[in-house]
Amino acid sequence: MAVHRFPVTVSLTAVLCAAPLAVSSACTASEGAVAPPSPAPILAGAGTAGIATAGVGTAGAPGIGDPDFPRDGNGGYDVEHYGLTLAYDPATRQLTGNAAIRATAVQDLTSFDLDLSGLTVSRVTVGGTPAGFSRQGDELVISPAAPISKGGAFDVVVDYGGVPQPIRGYSGLGTYGFTATADGAFVACEPNGAKTWFPSNDHPADKATYDFRLTVPGGLTAIANGELDGAPVTTGGRTTFVWRERHPMASYLATMTVGRFDVRTGRSAGGLPVYAAVDPAFRDSLDDLYTRSAEITDYWSTVFGPYPFSSTGGVIDDFAAGYALENQTKPLYGGFRPQQSIIAHELAHQWFGDSVSITRWKDLWLNEGFATYAEWLWSEHRGGESADAFFRHYYANATDPMWDYPPGAARPADLFNASVYVRGAMALHALRLDIGDARFFALLRAWTGEHRFGNATTAQFVELAERTSGRKLGPLFDAWLTRPGRPSVASGPPQPAGA
Ligand code: TRP
Ligand code: ZN
Repeated sequence: MAVHRFPVTVSLTAVLCAAPLAVSSACTASEGAVAPPSPAPILAGAGTAGIATAGVGTAGAPGIGDPDFPRDGNGGYDVEHYGLTLAYDPATRQLTGNAAIRATAVQDLTSFDLDLSGLTVSRVTVGGTPAGFSRQGDELVISPAAPISKGGAFDVVVDYGGVPQPIRGYSGLGTYGFTATADGAFVACEPNGAKTWFPSNDHPADKATYDFRLTVPGGLTAIANGELDGAPVTTGGRTTFVWRERHPMASYLATMTVGRFDVRTGRSAGGLPVYAAVDPAFRDSLDDLYTRSAEITDYWSTVFGPYPFSSTGGVIDDFAAGYALENQTKPLYGGFRPQQSIIAHELAHQWFGDSVSITRWKDLWLNEGFATYAEWLWSEHRGGESADAFFRHYYANATDPMWDYPPGAARPADLFNASVYVRGAMALHALRLDIGDARFFALLRAWTGEHRFGNATTAQFVELAERTSGRKLGPLFDAWLTRPGRPSVASGPPQPAGA
């Protein structure tokens, strides 16, 4: 099974000269983090004020129901909001946290889980009353003093701390999650690394809004999603940054990237606030990152529909991850100067992945196929190779391993495989050839509009494509997404753009 390092297509010339996409073999689905010794459960107090008591209830499931990631996320409740008050000291690598989580029970609950990897929990309350808790691997099992009734809103507060440990392997991209750097932390969490730094329902199917109150040593900058709420405040040699993401966000898109940063803020030509930050090692890239991020966000707004969030931007950290992640409102670039195609890719994810999120990881092509196709569209927009030329280039290689590896069911141990990116993008181009440009781009806007801030599935995309085109598209999607083998192109060989 091939794994590739992720979007690599820059120009067709670069593609033609590039080494094969497959660079490493599949990882096994193992996670490195080891839970600390479980503290003895705290005896639940008798006070139940504010907590409904109707019904006996059952334990919430330890997973949200994603068959490829059975322990990711949790059942029995839905989170609305995370309020994260966190202090990080790069000298000791110590994270000290308080997570205030507002959720709604979707069943009667005697207990429920949050996902948390490593770290030590000192106290949990539910509805203000101390709750029992225990650790089972990456599950924090919480037993409220009294059962919670289905439909009831409840507040969970978790005090915790320790040295966060990133997760190795598993995603096919190396280490992810909260990763200490020389001057702070690099925090990129796809697919399930949020649990390395806060207790969460760590699966994209449960999106929530976030507040971050981040305290770091003076001179450092802490960068999270959304917008700053006021200027940072420095007291006693430490600075606190308050960030708010007011739009629903998947847990893997949350970040608290810390370090020395040069920052440029302003507005795009279209009037959107822009926040760009670079580690001083990348100082000479700040203006380019700022300008390109603003320009590309404005352009995608004309192609994909209105920008979903309240600001755009990007962060380049001096940490040689070698990849980028589409953190909501603030894509994070790990130790390289991103080319336009990469910025175009991460900003396209703001629509495809961040605003419209997957419900199950097997549908990851809905993120990566679309973002890769956006790289081709950006090239075409800039007067470079057309999307059709990219398509024909890949189509011409009849022995590419992706033909045996359909993208419609991403494998957990090989999630970010080349087929999900490239064959996924090709599926979109095949659709475009079949239904025509007008209906294709109307479909993209309908997709981002109908599912804005929500979760969606491949079946819903196929249904919408059929509805907006008036065509039966099952065979086309089946050939491109599900069946092994190189599909035939229905309308004959693709024509050169402009020919
Ligand atoms: N979604 C990223 C992209 O294609 C790639 C990616 C997957 C990633 N998992 C990651 C990046 C973990 C950083 C950390 O743009
Ligand atoms: Zn991507």
